[in-house]
Amino acid sequence: PAPGWSIDADVVVVGSGVAGLTAALRCAAAGRRTVVVTKARLDDGSTRWAQGGIAAALGDGDTPEQHLADTLVAGAGLCDEEAVRALVTEGPDAVHRLIEVGARFDTAPGSEEIALTREGGHHRSRIAHAGGDATGAEISRALVEAVRAAGLRTIENALVLDLLTDAEGRTSGVTLHVMGEGQHDGVGAVHAPNVVLATGGMGQVFSATTNPAVSTGDGVALALRAGAEVSDLEFVQFHPTVLYLGPDAEGQQPLISEAVRGEGAHLVDAEGTRFMVGQHELAELAPRDIVAKAILRRALEQGADHMYLDARHFGAEMWEHRFPTILAACRAHGIDPVTEPIPVAPAAHHASGGVRTDLHGRTTVPGLYACGEVACTGVHGANRLASNSLLEGLVFAERIAEDIAARPAAGAAGAPESAAGGPGAVPLPLLAPETRITVQRIMTAGAGVLRSADGLAHAAAELDRIHREATEAAAGTAGTGGAKAPEPGVEAWEATNLLCVARVLVAAAQRRAETRGCHWREDHPDRDDASWRRHFRITLDADRA
Ligand code: SIN
Repeated sequence: PAPGWSIDADVVVVGSGVAGLTAALRCAAAGRRTVVVTKARLDDGSTRWAQGGIAAALGDGDTPEQHLADTLVAGAGLCDEEAVRALVTEGPDAVHRLIEVGARFDTAPGSEEIALTREGGHHRSRIAHAGGDATGAEISRALVEAVRAAGLRTIENALVLDLLTDAEGRTSGVTLHVMGEGQHDGVGAVHAPNVVLATGGMGQVFSATTNPAVSTGDGVALALRAGAEVSDLEFVQFHPTVLYLGPDAEGQQPLISEAVRGEGAHLVDAEGTRFMVGQHELAELAPRDIVAKAILRRALEQGADHMYLDARHFGAEMWEHRFPTILAACRAHGIDPVTEPIPVAPAAHHASGGVRTDLHGRTTVPGLYACGEVACTGVHGANRLASNSLLEGLVFAERIAEDIAARPAAGAAGAPESAAGGPGAVPLPLLAPETRITVQRIMTAGAGVLRSADGLAHAAAELDRIHREATEAAAGTAGTGGAKAPEPGVEAWEATNLLCVARVLVAAAQRRAETRGCHWREDHPDRDDASWRRHFRITLDADRA
């Protein structure tokens, strides 16, 4: 559909988590006309669900150098050290600026100092938290209030469809579909020379994930269609301790924060034996990939499909005070962590890769920026260190805003020339909404925690078949019994985006014939620095479009 309306701006920020709203507030403060577009409500993204906290060298005796060292170890040889250095050195001040914006972190008893806890892979207590285990909710509350107080223009319930570019291939805005609420309706366009992608992750590409339903890889798919490079998509982090709700559980699953282990919970098997002791010097607080693998190995040995997290020794008072969200989620599913161990299994949690950027958040398409989970800034390498993602969102959003502020504003007229490719370019072929579940099951079976050449090849073939059938349906060439092209709509676009990112992810995972970080190949069980200490930079070839 062609856009029925359009507005002009200097910057359009797509997404409203910690990265998007920080970028928007900073761009607006620098005098840039800024519009925030978000697929659901302003506080509906992944940020709100973050439990453990935000990592920064804030404690006595801690230093950015130590935070850097832990991040590099977790990243398994693939971090960009310069990007990590920016993250850890700018991190503490960025957290203080977030406090100035209005976020309230928990303080140590009887003190004004921020209380810090530990999580996997950190050799120091450096995780700031809020509301016990509701850190993301507090950050989201503070940023949404700040955006409203600053009077920023926001468009909610709007799925961004595609990037607009001018004749020179420079960004000139986005097309979007507004779904019923707000001052605009239907397909429209925001014209702006700077587009900041902050659309979050793609956890919904798997059946069971900690990510909310909106995390469908829209930003990565959009960037790919716009010709941008993506990198490290094979490195999907599976959080080791997600509440196990049975083998058929699908969609968003309750997270049991790593901070629960940080405060002393033990991972035990069905016999009650602690199995992380002796496997790693940090035991339950080893980096996430190591804990997730250990859980799956022990489960395979015991013919089980989950393990347990035992924190009964916390007692009721600590559970209620320190982890109220997790306690409520467990109890809602009939498990009382005060009196019984919590059944846990790994589930898809965080995309370490994404749209490749430089240190200023610039992608390979001029005028297109990316920050937060959608981006691959290089700070995570092959495996993100716990609680580095909120920090990454903050630090790189600020860097992007500085970069944009250093460029001339679009000017009063603002409207760019007509966009190459034409506004309203909808990703084709569109998938039927119900294909989402098929894609998720294929990805879980073939490209989940434990991967192999055969499993990945099967997944690739199945995804190609879906793509081929959708292409035929779009061209009206499907044979008898073939599917008809679906009506354009948000669910169809989301399913289309999921297929796009799934195919690229599987292609990258097939190519990486080694085990590294959170990419675990049972047919190539070792890390192979001689062949694979490198990144795959992928653009969309015609076949995957
Ligand atoms: C958690 O609370 O365990 C999640 C923290 C993170 O993913 O960084």
